[in-house]
Amino acid sequence: MKSAAPGDELEVLLDAETIARRVRELAAQISADYRGRPLHVVGVLKGAWVFLADLVRHLDLKVSIDFLSFASYGNNARSSGAVKITKDLDYSIEGRDVLVVEDILDTGHTFEYLRGVLEAHKPRSLKVATLLDKPSRRVRPVQADYVGFTIPDVFVVGYGLDHAQKYRSLPEVRILRRHP
Ligand code: IMP
Ligand code: MG
Repeated sequence: MKSAAPGDELEVLLDAETIARRVRELAAQISADYRGRPLHVVGVLKGAWVFLADLVRHLDLKVSIDFLSFASYGNNARSSGAVKITKDLDYSIEGRDVLVVEDILDTGHTFEYLRGVLEAHKPRSLKVATLLDKPSRRVRPVQADYVGFTIPDVFVVGYGLDHAQKYRSLPEVRILRRHP
């Protein structure tokens, strides 16, 4: 068992088996939707890397993969509207069917910005798959095409998601509560 840092409490929200089952379902749906067309998958670092790795291994499609990375600025990095690309795409997306893979849609600022940037490069189509969705937190008008789990307004870690770079390697998604 990987232990919590002092003052942190971690409660399981989604266990590894539940996640694995849902990821296979999403992969089957995506494979059906894009049948016969190569899919270009763009992962948003770092949170989406575990989800992406599991998802693409269940896709029954020709797949290519690229990654992007962002930094947010402002008082509250999670809900700031200011976003900057820190690692750009390595491959052109022009004319391709692009699936963006995200860890979580929260306020929607990050994806709204990302969508604008990617659409400017004229993909043939652009969809987003997110492992988690917190619709109650949304302040921008964005929606995912594929959602793993809709969750309440709680802060979660594990399966790629972090708090201050901790807990990304937990195999399940856990609610993080902090006691000072
Ligand atoms: P948005 O721009 O507010 O939609 O935020 C999206 C980003 O905030 C995600 O890609 C995560 O990196 C981070 N984030 C939002 N909620 C959580 C959470 O509960 N746990 C960990 N990271 C989160
Ligand atoms: Mg993060």
